[in-house]
Amino acid sequence: MTFKPIRKAVFPVAGLGTRFLPATKAMPKEMLTVVDKPLIQYAVEEALEAGCDQIIFVTGRGKGALEDHFDVSYELEATMKARGKSMALIEGIRQKPGSPVYVRQQEPLGLGHAVWCAREIVGDEPFAVLLPDELMVGEPGFLKQMVQAYEKVGGNLIGALEVAPAETDKYGIITPGKVDGALTEVLEVVEKPTKGTAKSNLMTPGRYILQPEVMKILDNPVTGAGGEIQLTDAMAQLIGKQPFHGYTFDGRRFDCGDKAGWVQANLALALEREDIGPAVRGFAQKLLA
Ligand code: G1P
Repeated sequence: MTFKPIRKAVFPVAGLGTRFLPATKAMPKEMLTVVDKPLIQYAVEEALEAGCDQIIFVTGRGKGALEDHFDVSYELEATMKARGKSMALIEGIRQKPGSPVYVRQQEPLGLGHAVWCAREIVGDEPFAVLLPDELMVGEPGFLKQMVQAYEKVGGNLIGALEVAPAETDKYGIITPGKVDGALTEVLEVVEKPTKGTAKSNLMTPGRYILQPEVMKILDNPVTGAGGEIQLTDAMAQLIGKQPFHGYTFDGRRFDCGDKAGWVQANLALALEREDIGPAVRGFAQKLLA
């Protein structure tokens, strides 16, 4: 069976980033770098690698740096060319004309509301959602692995990773059914279950392949956990009506929405770099000795 390909990738990037203040007072949190690349670029590259060719940012006030990052930078390019510097690190970022597409989420009403703001652009196609503060490192990337699984099972797929049981109240939590390799049947998904009520420790880490019907459900939103319109609640209504699987990523996850996770990502990726790895390793060893 062939399923409609996943061409569109939605990036909810309107969040205020209060957890990273003061860094994010005048700068989008998605522009925080891991070593020398902003979080948003890691996520966009993951989507492009997975075959998505339309990048959709659900953005808001004060997020202009995101738009500029994927645009031409005449001054920079002209100066670098004149100085004979390599353009490799900036040319690849620029997207094809007409992409990304930007839609605005005027009010921070929740992830479900953010995704719904992209409904006119998504139209009647299955689409991906990526949360850029979840940095996924693997080969191939998380979304590509999910697309490969989607090509076999279709329907809806959400990332599924184990977390410590004490952390389940921070995430969307899956009630798992049958397991087949990396795929887990999803029987139920609950947003931020109150402590002691989670049915498993399988959380959903911000990678989704969804059918367009979820937008119809979001047309009539309900207020969920934290007083927000939750994507998880809308997705949950598709279970039983369409195939619905969790996909366990073969790779590493860094929660860069959290300061410790973001520092860990910087350290881990810096240590792997040929250019700076040895210097960082030597310093870290001295520091910890
Ligand atoms: C969001 C989702 C949640 C998911 C999490 C992953 O929560 O609502 O289901 O598990 O991202 O990071 P948030 O971090 O926005 O509270």
